[in-house]
Parts: sequence; C-alpha cells; structure tokens
Amino acid sequence: MKNKGLGENKKYNLLQLENKVCVITGAASIRSIGYGTAELFAAHGAKLVILDLVMNDEIANDLTHHIEKQIGKKTEILCLQCDIRNTSDCDKVIAMAVAHFGTIDCLVNCAGIVKSEGMLSITDEEYDLIMDVNLKGTFNICKSALKVFAEKQAGVIVNLSSLAAQRGGGLVGGSHYAASKGGVISLTKAIAREFAPMNIRANAICPAMIETSMLDGLSEEQLNDVISGIPLKRVGKTVELAGACLFLASDLSGFITGATIDVNGGIHIH
Ligand SMILES: NC(=O)c1ccc[n+]([C@@H]2O[C@H](COP(=O)([O-])OP(=O)(O)OC[C@H]3O[C@@H](n4cnc5c(N)ncnc54)[C@H](O)[C@@H]3O)[C@@H](O)[C@H]2O)c1
Repeated sequence: MKNKGLGENKKYNLLQLENKVCVITGAASIRSIGYGTAELFAAHGAKLVILDLVMNDEIANDLTHHIEKQIGKKTEILCLQCDIRNTSDCDKVIAMAVAHFGTIDCLVNCAGIVKSEGMLSITDEEYDLIMDVNLKGTFNICKSALKVFAEKQAGVIVNLSSLAAQRGGGLVGGSHYAASKGGVISLTKAIAREFAPMNIRANAICPAMIETSMLDGLSEEQLNDVISGIPLKRVGKTVELAGACLFLASDLSGFITGATIDVNGGIHIH
C-alpha cells in the first residue's frame, strides 16, 4: 500500500511541515488569511511559494522580512506574480516553484475576491469576474499543481470557500460570490474523489468573519451587529484560520479528504 498515513512509522514532530514546499495563493497583504497561513507554515518548517496577482519585489521583500521577524528565523520563500485566471500563468509559476525547490508538496488557495451586490444589480462582467477568480482560478491553479502531485503520487490541497456557500449568501458577498464558493466546495470534493487513489488529499475551509481587508466594507455598526450574532462574540484572527490550514496540510489530517471545515466562531452550526 502506497498511502500508509502516519501508521506504524508515526513520530511526533513539532514542526508539522518541516521541509515541505507549500504554495500559497493570495498572500500579498500582511492582513490576509494567505499571509497568516504563510507565517504559520514557515514557523512549522515549510518552504514557501507565495503567489499573488499584485506581487512585486517590494511586496516580496516586505513579506519575507515580516515572516522572518515574526518567526525569528531565516525562511526559504519564493514570491511570484500570478493571475490565477490565466492557465499559462498557473503552469508557469508551478514550473518555477518546482525548478527552484525541486518539488511542491502542498497548495493552499486563499486568492479570492468578494463583492456585495443584490442579485438583480449584478452585471455580466461582475459575475464573470467573481467566477473567473474564485472558481476558475482555483480550478486552474489546482490543475497545475495536480500535474506535479499526480506524477509524484502525493500532495495536499486546501481550498478556501466561504460561509456564503453554506447559508445562501454572505455576511459579505452577493449571490455570484456565494455561487463561486459553492463551486469551490464541489470542485474540492471532486478532486478529493478523483485523486485519492494517487495519495492526494483535498479539503475545503468555510471561513466567516476573519479580520482581513474583506471586512473593511462593513461599518462599525454593521460589524457590531454581526458580532452579536456570533456565538464566540468576536471576529476571527487570520492565525486561527491558518491553524485549520496547517491541520489540513499536515499529516495530522492524513485520513481526511473531501471534507469541509468551518472556521466561523459558531455562527453556522449544522
Ligand atoms: N476574511 C473573511 O472573513 C473570509 C470569509 C469567507 C471566505 N474568505 C475567503 O478566504 C480567502 C482569503 O480572504 P482574505 O480575507 O484573506 O482576502 P484578501 O483580500 O485579504 O486576500 C486575497 C488576495 O487574493 C489576491 N488575488 C485576487 N485576485 C487574484 C488573482 N486573479 N490571482 C491571484 N491572486 C489574486 C489579492 O491580491 C489578495 O492579496 C478568499 O478566498 C475569501 O473569499 C474570507
């Protein structure tokens, strides 16, 4: 059997991703979920490939400096500009990551956009943009990474969906956003089923109210109103979402695939 999981060879490692090459999309902003995930993964020994639409040398230097300062050690980080809507961009950056690090082990998809809009006001262009980034973009970068994972018969994918996919629209985000994130869950399950025989796992996370720029559109009154409805009575921190990504990316979750994990302070309990 190829896929042994932790099994009899289990060893307890405090560095859950030691020397694993982890590709993270959507991590250009220090406030983002992608950044929080990158920092936690680096603290756990991962080598990082950070992909973002707005990546440039200045952002790359800032990210590297910030991560190393926070975790107190040197880290191997490759930052690349990538528009996940573009298939050749995706293939190119994955090839660059493999050329740089020798392989990739894990992909976490945090790149995404949101727009709050009533359904009747959503234009064709707005619909296409949300779908192209959130669903097609996730599909594209998964496909590029899966070519490598299938070849090596190993790999892990974590896709960021949203509470919006589960409850019929977001606290932030219109029906096009909810539909795109519903697609991410279905895509993740399909990847999990198709690639499980190749020792490749894929899981989705549904966050809500994590403190990033995505919440900037809410007024203080709106924010307080939403918080009063969250059982834990606060918004979530990016490191708390990153913790779920770490679990799903590491061998700790070796027998979990096709799952959807909620990180929402209890606002949606099934
Ligand atoms: N913050 C929340 O409460 C929350 C709730 C539900 C779901 N989510 C999801 O979590 C993920 C991360 O959210 P966040 O709050 O950190 O958002 P964020 O806006 O801080 O970060 C998203 C990043 O994606 C990048 N990006 C956008 N389009 C891209 C493209 N075409 N190609 C490559 N990169 C692109 C942006 O440049 C940005 O750096 C998103 O998918 C979001 O939908 C967040």
